[in-house]
Amino acid sequence: MNNIILIGFMGAGKTTVGMSLAKERHMQFVDTDERIVKEQKQKIPEIFATFGESYFRDLETNLLRHMQSDTNDSVISVGGGMPVREENRKLLRELGYVVFLSASKETILSRVKNDGSRPMLNGEDLESRVEYLMRERKEFYEETAHFIVQTDKMDIPQVVKIICQKIDNKTKTG
Ligand code: S3P
Repeated sequence: MNNIILIGFMGAGKTTVGMSLAKERHMQFVDTDERIVKEQKQKIPEIFATFGESYFRDLETNLLRHMQSDTNDSVISVGGGMPVREENRKLLRELGYVVFLSASKETILSRVKNDGSRPMLNGEDLESRVEYLMRERKEFYEETAHFIVQTDKMDIPQVVKIICQKIDNKTKTG
């Protein structure tokens, strides 16, 4: 399938980069969180508060299954926890070319602080929560990705450019 999928930790820039990349390549932009919110008619923190995390994870997996047949030629930005489930990792790779937007803990912290919209980061100590989740998820992101971009020292156009170059080279060489 012809999709480009962006994975990575909360605050890694998946949505911002995804929108810009979609524009550059004249592709549709799809955000899995946005689709879930639209379909459930509830915001993410409400879904977590009402039904719990595993219910949300089931919604994510169901959505990925549906996307196998209804989403093509799109840039897809997925929620930070999507690659944690083994089935999701397989579905993500079947959906298209997977890019891991990697960023340091410091970069992530500067972007997610004072943000009440991410239930996975609720709690007392934001830094240790981010550190714990990043460590836990690193191998899942790496295992799922076809390509990794280290974004810390780059602005959005630079990240978009690198992804485009990589995809165009891949197309040329098959
Ligand atoms: C989550 C990341 C969020 C959203 C939900 C859970 C996670 O998406 O799916 O709050 O577990 O990392 P973003 O990565 O777009 O913030």
